Amino acid sequence: MEIKVIVDDIARVKAGAIIVSFFEGMKGLDNDIASIDTAFEGAISRLISRGEIKGKLGEITIIHSLGRLAADHVVIMGMGKKEELTLDKVRGAVAETCRHLKKKRVDDIATIAHGAGILDITLEGSARAITEGVLLGLYSFRKHITKDDEYIKVKKLTIVGSKEADVYLLGQGCHKGKILAEAANMARDMVNEPANYMTPSDMAGVAKKIAKEHSLELTILERQGMQELGMGALLGVAQGSCQPPKFIVLNYKGRDTDEIDLALVGKGVTFDSGGLSLKSQNKMDEMKEDMSGGAAVMAAISAIAHLKIKINVTVIVPAVENLPSGSALKPGDVLKSMIGKTIEIISTDAEGRLILADALGYANKIKARFIVDVATLTGACKVALGDVCTGVMGNNQELVDKVVVAGAQAGELMWQMPMYDEYKEQNKSNIADIKNVGDRGAAPITAAQFLAEFVGDTPWVHLDIGGTSFGNKERKYLVKGATGVPVRTLVNLVLAIPSQT
Ligand code: BES
Ligand code: ZN
Ligand code: ZN
Repeated sequence: MEIKVIVDDIARVKAGAIIVSFFEGMKGLDNDIASIDTAFEGAISRLISRGEIKGKLGEITIIHSLGRLAADHVVIMGMGKKEELTLDKVRGAVAETCRHLKKKRVDDIATIAHGAGILDITLEGSARAITEGVLLGLYSFRKHITKDDEYIKVKKLTIVGSKEADVYLLGQGCHKGKILAEAANMARDMVNEPANYMTPSDMAGVAKKIAKEHSLELTILERQGMQELGMGALLGVAQGSCQPPKFIVLNYKGRDTDEIDLALVGKGVTFDSGGLSLKSQNKMDEMKEDMSGGAAVMAAISAIAHLKIKINVTVIVPAVENLPSGSALKPGDVLKSMIGKTIEIISTDAEGRLILADALGYANKIKARFIVDVATLTGACKVALGDVCTGVMGNNQELVDKVVVAGAQAGELMWQMPMYDEYKEQNKSNIADIKNVGDRGAAPITAAQFLAEFVGDTPWVHLDIGGTSFGNKERKYLVKGATGVPVRTLVNLVLAIPSQT
């Protein structure tokens, strides 16, 4: 899609549709609507006074211009109460409106910079939110649909500024929004891809492409390299599948030292059948999403590199398939992790924490200053928080707070769960240093407590995206399937972590 910024009076712009906004309870019309209202001889004011246009968030009113304007349609987008406006509401409303227009086969959309100048919303912030909303909201994964003639794509989005001085800031916002949304969509593509098209080797292939595009340093450890490092936990999960595991390490240097400011670790289970602790058939197909964490951190580093942020970031993705077979890991087995801790396997379906144990051990070994891991770690997190919030846990409150704020800015909601020592009891094993499953209660927390054993003292945050990585309905800028959470949060976080220069 082509996205551009121009300066004009929105009422004069030629497009399939122009989008203006109206706030709930507003008396009188803003300039943008006022000139459109004049062209319609006061029809919009009448719709407002009759209560047909209320300005509620989510309200979409489409009026055919029938030749009164250069544009074919005018959309009046309800934005809720002005004093409650947020960038996420702009992002969501624009996404829903554009999806609606697409269904009406409109492929050329122009819009004002919604919300700019209201509360703390800047021109740049508005343009960024609009761009993200459009690109995320119109995303669809159609690669495997062979008959696609009916499908309409929105070809052009124009953000209309009211004066020449606005162009630079609107352009900046557009640029950032595009990089962030395209990164999230890249993660979505990887996650939506069926597991037979997104094996550990395919993930390594994507890493190669990212490395080439942004000149990143790439290391891919094969089974033998993992053996040499003693990654017994990761290898234990991989041993049931014919697909060879890949340990992917991508390095971005935004500043001139070898110090690693942040390690982003992502769970890369390309299919989680549960292994011998086999999952039920119910929605097992969705377990292709179990590499969402890996996809998110890979997409995030591509955006970080694209934005040339002055920070050093290393992405670590242990990529494996979790399958039952004659060579598979068995409940009751004991594995030795890279850091030397032994793990008793209670369930082979708690495989995420096993591969992360070695990936976190590796992040520690390379002396990252901060570690954030992202994983579809527990179904229980989905039960607790639904598909609305990502579960956040960690060993450093300052870093947890930074992640939560970065998430709020992205509209990716986070909720912290407690890490009291009392929960650790559940992970005690009689025959090894730790076991991989606790009791039924507090599963996201005991899973995080397990991970904590492998990060040492490094400030670390764990994001359980078990509930937020994949969805079955459209909501705001989320569509069915992969969500791309928390790619934009991670980039915001990187912007908030000062490098030590
Ligand atoms: N990948 C799953 C968690 C999951 C389930 C994510 C559903 C998203 C949707 C993970 O590997 C798993 O199976 N976890 C088990 C842990 C249990 C055995 C302690 C779970 O959540 O049931
Ligand atoms: Zn599992
Ligand atoms: Zn899993």
